[in-house]
Amino acid sequence: MSVAKFFDDMSYGPAPEADTEARGWIKRHNGTFGHFINGEFRASSGNKTFVTHEPATGGDLAKLAIGTKDDVDAAVVSARKAQAQWAKLSGHQRARHLYALARMIQRHGRLLAVVEAIDNGKPIRETRDIDVPLAARHFYHHAGWAQLQESEFSDHVPVGVVGQIIPWNFPLLMLAWKVAPALALGNTVILKPAEFTSLTALLFAELAAAAGLPPGVLNVVTGEGETGALIVEHDGIDKIAFTGSTDVGRIIREKTAGSGKSLTLELGGKSPFIVFDDADLDGAVEGVVDAIWFNQGQVCCAGSRILVQEGVAEKFHARLRRRMQTLRVGQPLDKAIDMGAIVAPVQLKRIEKLVKQGVDEGATLYQSEIELPKGGSFFRPTLLANVQPTSIVATEEIFGPVAVSMTFRTPEEAVQLANHTRYGLAASVWSETIGLALHVAARLQAGVVWVNATNLFDAAAGFGGKKESGFGREGGREGAYEYLKPKAWANRKARLDYAVPQLRTTAGDFAAPLIDRTAKLFIGGKQARPDGNYNRPIISPKGKLVGEVGEGNRKDIRNAVAAAQGAASWGSATAHNRAQILYYIAENLSGRADEFIARLAAQTGRTPGSARAEFDASVSRLFTYGAWADKYEGVIHQPPLRGVALAMPEPQGVVGVICPPEAPLLGFISLVAPLIAVGNRAVVVPSEPYPLSATDFYSVLETSDVPAGVVNIVTGSAMELGKALASHNDVDAVWAFGSQALSEMVEKASVGNLKRVFTDYGKAYDWMDPAQGEGPLYLRRATDIKNVWIPYGE
Ligand code: NAI
Ligand code: MG
Repeated sequence: MSVAKFFDDMSYGPAPEADTEARGWIKRHNGTFGHFINGEFRASSGNKTFVTHEPATGGDLAKLAIGTKDDVDAAVVSARKAQAQWAKLSGHQRARHLYALARMIQRHGRLLAVVEAIDNGKPIRETRDIDVPLAARHFYHHAGWAQLQESEFSDHVPVGVVGQIIPWNFPLLMLAWKVAPALALGNTVILKPAEFTSLTALLFAELAAAAGLPPGVLNVVTGEGETGALIVEHDGIDKIAFTGSTDVGRIIREKTAGSGKSLTLELGGKSPFIVFDDADLDGAVEGVVDAIWFNQGQVCCAGSRILVQEGVAEKFHARLRRRMQTLRVGQPLDKAIDMGAIVAPVQLKRIEKLVKQGVDEGATLYQSEIELPKGGSFFRPTLLANVQPTSIVATEEIFGPVAVSMTFRTPEEAVQLANHTRYGLAASVWSETIGLALHVAARLQAGVVWVNATNLFDAAAGFGGKKESGFGREGGREGAYEYLKPKAWANRKARLDYAVPQLRTTAGDFAAPLIDRTAKLFIGGKQARPDGNYNRPIISPKGKLVGEVGEGNRKDIRNAVAAAQGAASWGSATAHNRAQILYYIAENLSGRADEFIARLAAQTGRTPGSARAEFDASVSRLFTYGAWADKYEGVIHQPPLRGVALAMPEPQGVVGVICPPEAPLLGFISLVAPLIAVGNRAVVVPSEPYPLSATDFYSVLETSDVPAGVVNIVTGSAMELGKALASHNDVDAVWAFGSQALSEMVEKASVGNLKRVFTDYGKAYDWMDPAQGEGPLYLRRATDIKNVWIPYGE
């Protein structure tokens, strides 16, 4: 063959990576692995096993243990014992352990990369150049958080023992994302890898022990969904961190409801990939390759929904189809391929079925006309063009190398189409006009937005979703907080039950009666009669009627949520504007001290002195959030690329608030003020026994320039109205303070749209104590970080 001909067709043969070491490691274990508990491998107590396969050949790879209840118990005992000592180490000592793990990943990088490629089916080029280096980077970054823990997180303590359940698409990388922050901040771990891909976790645990990680700090229990469920339901575990399907995420939310376990869920996505007519089209075409054909498309944040502006759609599709023909699908260990094997036959079938459904629904199918390897689970790079926004392939996560595409006319329409999904993980925006790209990025409902780029990750930049893509962040400072809990909340006691006082003096006395004692609801800036036309009497501890409030119901909540939805522009008001309004509320409230203090005392039977203290603290708290409103800001990350990632706190949207029974005014303000300070709108259920301080507050809101719909107040039963809020699909988060039963109910009812829940599990706060009752602890829960990646240069 002449050199000229070679240059002409640029063909090249396979360049396989050697697998001797990797297979040697499996052989050393006789092809059989137990769990890794307390620093050593041990067989499953139940002696039940399953076989893990090699996706590229379909052949058997190893025999793994199925974790039983006894196995999980043993892992929890070992993790619990280790946690006390692990947390006692200095930050520096833990930093040295994490540093050792980072170095260990680098030293054994080749072995880890090959085992991963064989076990998962993904190309060695990706495991070697992406999974392994990023995993090491996570341990380096978190070695730093361990080192800085005492100074940067001095008001927090570790959560404790953490159960981590991970998927099969990035087995080692997801381990790193979960294990590194957990260990860095003083927690110990029970990790369950996905059943398709457990090997790198076992190899990691073995290497970590050899690198000096103390026994019990990292335990790996293998098995399927049932083993995962045992971890989720275990009483000895303080936190669950899960990455996987939205369906399983829902089950986990429901199972942990009311348990007090902290929870982070990183779930699925159907991320938009938006191409404007002024985009660098060749760049965008390469972007699609990275967005949907990276890792065979088995990527939670895959840019699987291409939206192209009409004027360039034809040109773009033509170039994309041409590019598809040059992709190579082959053996994972071949260094010259773009795509390897799908993880398992069941996933391949799922992809095939969905593609067929898409075609049946009218999509135009394009597939590369390339040869697929024989045997194993392979699928062609696929594009389904001209799909309808409601088509199943446009709404369901396919989790394979299949992009769908549709067109749009205006930026407005692009944003609408992009957000038209129950998910909210990531998005990619392509335009040479920086103003347009950033304008659109700001309006996309997603945890991560890449401008003229896609699938960029770094340990310093938090990753995670909105809506049904789950909650919590992995990486960065915000990710570190997911593995910590506030010291100030550590010694809260169970809240006492409030007995409803009985009315004792029914007959009037000689003082003139009040003219109308019924406070109405406050919805959309107006006082409103309760839909059911019922009122409830508010009775003082001495048995005197203090007033009446409306008995709100589900319909009133619906109206209030609609009003809050309508006030979305509050989220884009300037921080200065919001700050001013909070100060103004404080000013107007302070002008009515006597009235509010008398009302507090009359409802609660407390002394005027105690009522005054609560009133003064309330005014001060409004000032605190006026102060924070223009100071709770994001950061600019400088990830390892030419560019920046802007980490911006965004409001969660419409938040339902169920106020605690105690502190009728301060409790209300402590929850509402941080929410509105950062741009949320609230639907608030005031203290059930003492709602009048909140209803008196309308007139303060009315005179303080708070736009209609930003704060809505519905009085009535905390349980009933809480349920209506927690199950409402247009409510983005619920803050519920009250009984343990309320916490459990709200967490259970939140599964519909997987709203964020902030609740107290029936533990009382001391609202007078600023360490417990105000500050960034609340602002962090009132916001989500969105990372907007902006690479620069040509
Ligand atoms: P999955 O959500 O069932 O599995 C993820 C992990 O959860 C595995 O370790 C599994 O053993 C565990 N698990 C399963 N049921 C559990 C339960 N009831 N309690 C506790 N743990 C449990 O995902 P699967 O079945 O492997 O894949 C199905 C689909 O899910 C994919 O086609 C894809 O659409 C989606 N998926 C999304 C991922 C993402 O990163 N967003 C990752 C994996 C799957
Ligand atoms: Mg499953």
